[in-house]
Amino acid sequence: MKRCCRVKLNTDNMNLENVMKVLIINGSPRAKGNCAWLSEQLAEKYSGEDCEVIALKDLKFSNCGGCENCRTGEGICETDDDLKAVLPKLLEADLIILSSPNYYAAVSGICKTFMDRWVCLKKRAGIPQFRPEQKLFFVFVQGAGNRGHGEPAVEWAKKVCTHYGLKFYGMVIPNCAADSRDGIRLKMDEIRMNLSMFL
Ligand SMILES: Cc1cc2nc3c(=O)[nH]c(=O)nc-3n(C[C@H](O)[C@H](O)[C@H](O)COP(=O)(O)O)c2cc1C
Repeated sequence: MKRCCRVKLNTDNMNLENVMKVLIINGSPRAKGNCAWLSEQLAEKYSGEDCEVIALKDLKFSNCGGCENCRTGEGICETDDDLKAVLPKLLEADLIILSSPNYYAAVSGICKTFMDRWVCLKKRAGIPQFRPEQKLFFVFVQGAGNRGHGEPAVEWAKKVCTHYGLKFYGMVIPNCAADSRDGIRLKMDEIRMNLSMFL
């Protein structure tokens, strides 16, 4: 039995089925780019699990206002936008797969805005609300051929995830031109293998 799994009752044949909750988040503002293609491939890989794909570009959400209301009072983010429904899904997922394009050696603007909003997922007294067994697999796609160019951003993402108590694995995928899926296609086996090893 996999370590990160929930048990779902299959009422058709009354067999117990191990189902992992997988949340795939596409952090590119492009509808048909490398992150979108990757998300489709991985949704297929996890089609037997409880898998959902979310494209951040399809959501309307604002910056973290830095009001700190989530850390005081009722501990709730008062921003009323599409992330209200999405943030709790992060806490439920056994595996979060987050992809982002490299924009000037950093994650995309929407991805950064999204991650800033995680601040409300911290309980008061600084105890993360994520479960200790939750995992985040980060894929950073970039045009450059040099993986080292993207590594500082992966290290940054690792720090954010570690801060929230998430187990982290990150990969830079080089040679991902905007108008071709060849670069990411070439690395799919490596991505699948690393995911399997991470789980
Ligand atoms: C605003 C912007 C900044 C970019 N900056 C970089 C960069 O610093 N380094 C790099 O290797 N690629 C850079 N790229 C290229 C993208 O990271 C690359 O094409 C990526 O595969 C796009 O992902 P997507 O197809 O999922 O949108 C940039 C692209 C844009 C639009």
